[in-house]
Amino acid sequence: MLLERFLSELSLERCAVASLSIVTLILTALAIYNHFLHPLHHIRGPLLCTLTPWVQLYHGLAGDRHIWLHKLHQKYGSHIRIRKADFYDAFPAIKGIYNTHNAIDKTLHGRKRRVLSQAFSDNALKGMEELMLLHVKQFCQVIVQGAGEKGAVTRNLSNWFSYLAYDIMGELCFGKSYDMLINGARRGVIALVDRAAFRHYVCGLWMPLDSWHLDQLLIPRITRDRWNFIMNSRIEATLRAKARTQAGHASKKDFFYYLLNATDPETGKGFDTKELWAEANVLMIAGSDTTSTSLAATIFYLVRNPTAMQRLRKEIEGAFGDVEEIVSGQTLNGLEYLKACVDEAMRLAPAVPGAMPREVTAGGATVDGVFLPAGSNCGTPCFSIHRHPDYYRQSLKYIPERWLEGETCRVGGEEWVSSKESVEVGRKAFCPFSVGPRGCIGKGMALMEMRITLARMVFLFDMDSADATGEDEEGNLAMVDHFTSQKTGPNVRFRKRIL
Ligand code: HEM
Repeated sequence: MLLERFLSELSLERCAVASLSIVTLILTALAIYNHFLHPLHHIRGPLLCTLTPWVQLYHGLAGDRHIWLHKLHQKYGSHIRIRKADFYDAFPAIKGIYNTHNAIDKTLHGRKRRVLSQAFSDNALKGMEELMLLHVKQFCQVIVQGAGEKGAVTRNLSNWFSYLAYDIMGELCFGKSYDMLINGARRGVIALVDRAAFRHYVCGLWMPLDSWHLDQLLIPRITRDRWNFIMNSRIEATLRAKARTQAGHASKKDFFYYLLNATDPETGKGFDTKELWAEANVLMIAGSDTTSTSLAATIFYLVRNPTAMQRLRKEIEGAFGDVEEIVSGQTLNGLEYLKACVDEAMRLAPAVPGAMPREVTAGGATVDGVFLPAGSNCGTPCFSIHRHPDYYRQSLKYIPERWLEGETCRVGGEEWVSSKESVEVGRKAFCPFSVGPRGCIGKGMALMEMRITLARMVFLFDMDSADATGEDEEGNLAMVDHFTSQKTGPNVRFRKRIL
């Protein structure tokens, strides 16, 4: 009886009103819980971002998540609360096959990292330098092609440093270079790698994109390109592993040379073929865009700061009499001003600008005076910490002298001498390679590649800024955050120096 009456009075309009009321009720209850009762309710943040993952997904897709987080910090202070994301769960290319970067389990990560680290020992790096140098020399030849004896040629270094970095990583990861520096045919791989990183990134911000395969529906192009890259790299890695096993120790000293027979000293286990492929895959992504962005950033700032460029040249010419002397080693590593120029560029334009989340384990943790219960995620965006005025005076300006104790720093009408304390504070806050057991394993290699390339360029060429390509409104290098940064400049005019 009652049911009959209820059904007879049911109309579309009433259904809509009822559904809306239920949704409003749920959202209000969630908002009240989040604002007053959630274990982290005392940490401030925009209400909508604590309720839904879509605000940060929107910024992830727009590529400005680092700027969005920075603005939130400027508004709310040192701690902000946003909705948790299961970041690294979205990263494995094939479910169940982890690499050193996306292995969340500590034991698994530890084993992989111990094996992988054998490819990054001082000895291994020295072995790989020969291959790296081949490409750096080629870069220095092709970058001025068409310039004539006294003429100039303009190059977009965002592109050309990418060609260099990919050629080097292709050679080291898959045993053969992409030859992008000399042949345009394979340059499309750069966009595929970018999309692979981008897809991992946005899916990590909202897991249903990955777990419910919504990525195929909502971001089809990114998903397809990422898949093409994965398939491509799987084929290359399998072929490479086969060829390398047959070649024994006679062939090139690339990553496979060091990883094929490497074992974990604690467990005695090495990498099987699938794991090798997974590592080659991540090394390609982790080692190419990051290095090319840091190189582009250093030249971007140097061509805008001619005094710094001159001082750097003086330091390099004081250390080396001939360009072929510029190789890795004590002399190159001892160039203090070169190091300061690179660090200052990576401070303003970090290649991984966002917050990398770490999960709090059983028992909770107190981070910077704030207690976080088990299960919460916590991260510090490198972009924001590098711009914090408490750690870096005139934080938006490029001043390499800030890294050298006793040096005079000048900007606009302001002048000060960097103290032991200011250098130490700056060093402690500096984190372009992240820190701790999951910090960058390729730091030594990246610095070697960057120092050799930059020192050779400054030795061989006069360079100045051709236009404002790649600049943001503050005059800094504009970056798009796809987990690793994408950039569009600088455009630089090159002239060969008469040596
Ligand atoms: C200037 C260049 C580079 C920068 C700024 C950089 C930065 C970083 C950062 C911030 C992380 C931490 C990522 C996270 O926690 O999710 C990382 C991890 C990593 N990087 Fe780099 N990287 C650079 C070059 C390289 C190179 C050349 C390689 C290898 C060829 C490499 C391999 C890796 C790997 C394998 C990890 C994961 C380590 C782990 O989780 O144990 N990186 N890098």
